[in-house]
Amino acid sequence: MKKVILITGGAGFIGSHLVRLFVTKYPNYTIVNLDKLTYAGNLENLKDIEDAPNYEFVKGDITDLNMLRTLFKKYGFTSVIHCAAESHVDRSISDPLAFVHTNVIGTVCLLQTAREYWNNNFNDTLFYHISTDEVYGSLGSEGFFTETTAYDPRSPYSASKASSDHFVRAYYHTYGLPVKISNCSNNYGPNHFPEKLIPLCILNILHEKPLPIYGKGENVRDWLFVEDHVRAIDVIFHTGKTGETYNIGGHNEWTNIDLVKELCRQMDEKLGRPPGTNEKLITFVKDRAGHDLRYAIDATKLSRELGWEPSLQFQEGISKTIDWYLQNEEWLKDVTSGSYQHYYEQQYHKR
Ligand code: NAD
Ligand code: DAU
Repeated sequence: MKKVILITGGAGFIGSHLVRLFVTKYPNYTIVNLDKLTYAGNLENLKDIEDAPNYEFVKGDITDLNMLRTLFKKYGFTSVIHCAAESHVDRSISDPLAFVHTNVIGTVCLLQTAREYWNNNFNDTLFYHISTDEVYGSLGSEGFFTETTAYDPRSPYSASKASSDHFVRAYYHTYGLPVKISNCSNNYGPNHFPEKLIPLCILNILHEKPLPIYGKGENVRDWLFVEDHVRAIDVIFHTGKTGETYNIGGHNEWTNIDLVKELCRQMDEKLGRPPGTNEKLITFVKDRAGHDLRYAIDATKLSRELGWEPSLQFQEGISKTIDWYLQNEEWLKDVTSGSYQHYYEQQYHKR
């Protein structure tokens, strides 16, 4: 059966890499990207594929049930890959309700629409939910999150993602909706919005501005190149077992301070600044409220059962990422000035 896939949040960081991979790798699939274009959604991320014959963009909000029903009827979706979310922990601390609205209610609206539309005829259908390692809470200095680690979310963001995961499983157990879930560690790479640690520091190093490190910089994150994440999503979508959860991670733990020092070192070299210049920009600032100490993913299940492995060493991935930002200063300028938000008007209202 021909696949018609709804990808939500495809104008965001991970979503745009996912849309590109599916549109180019599977010309016989139809890919519809539904995105509200919040501050984090940027259609310039997809300029290179926007005219592909198997791709369509729809501007809309996943909490709008009537719109979703119309969209499912119009396109006849066979699967959903649900990436849309409010994704920034710091924003969830200042505005938790926005996270409940999109991440919880939006996910339930999608589940409900898919269930109604497929109407118990679940052959060749799939609802694939993209989630995060943050649902498992915070680790001490030892141990890893596995797929059976108990949920223990500790920020409004992770609580909203945990809640959405529970609803996805509830629709599987209660209604038999075919679902898959993956929980991934921190991503980095091109098109990352510069409110998150890595792109923020690249931007600030470029402009010789302070690099804000929360607390003492001792918190640990497990970093994965975004293209490796979307490759894992591809593998899970096609060969993962229905009803299962897969953890995705890079076996790549860094304290924030060591990570930022590595960025400084590589950017000294790339910008021709004397060694040690950028490190002087490091500034310790007030810690994030409830800051989780350590995340670390055990991705053995994904590697053993589906054969996925990360492809890039971190130093190489971070070097590629810095090069991308240096070669795409226009993108950065548009994002920081907000002018990327006019792109939709220009691009889609001229048609
Ligand atoms: P992002 O913030 O870059 O992009 C989110 C996208 O969703 C944006 O394009 C935005 O416009 C869209 N969106 C937001 N609210 C919407 C709504 N109500 N209706 C329709 N579209 C809406 O996020 P990201 O970093 O690419 O994360 C994508 C997904 O992956 C999220 O579900 C996130 O929880 C998960 N995740 C992210 C990471 C990471 O390190 N970034 C790691 C693991 C999991
Ligand atoms: O683990 C997966 C999660 O990774 C995703 O689910 C989230 O969507 C994604 O945003 C990311 O969350 P983090 O909170 O880990 O990412 P962030 O880049 O915001 O922060 C990374 C670490 O750096 C964290 O320990 C907080 C710290 N930090 C962050 C910022 C923005 C700083 O020290 N200074 C900063 O200015």
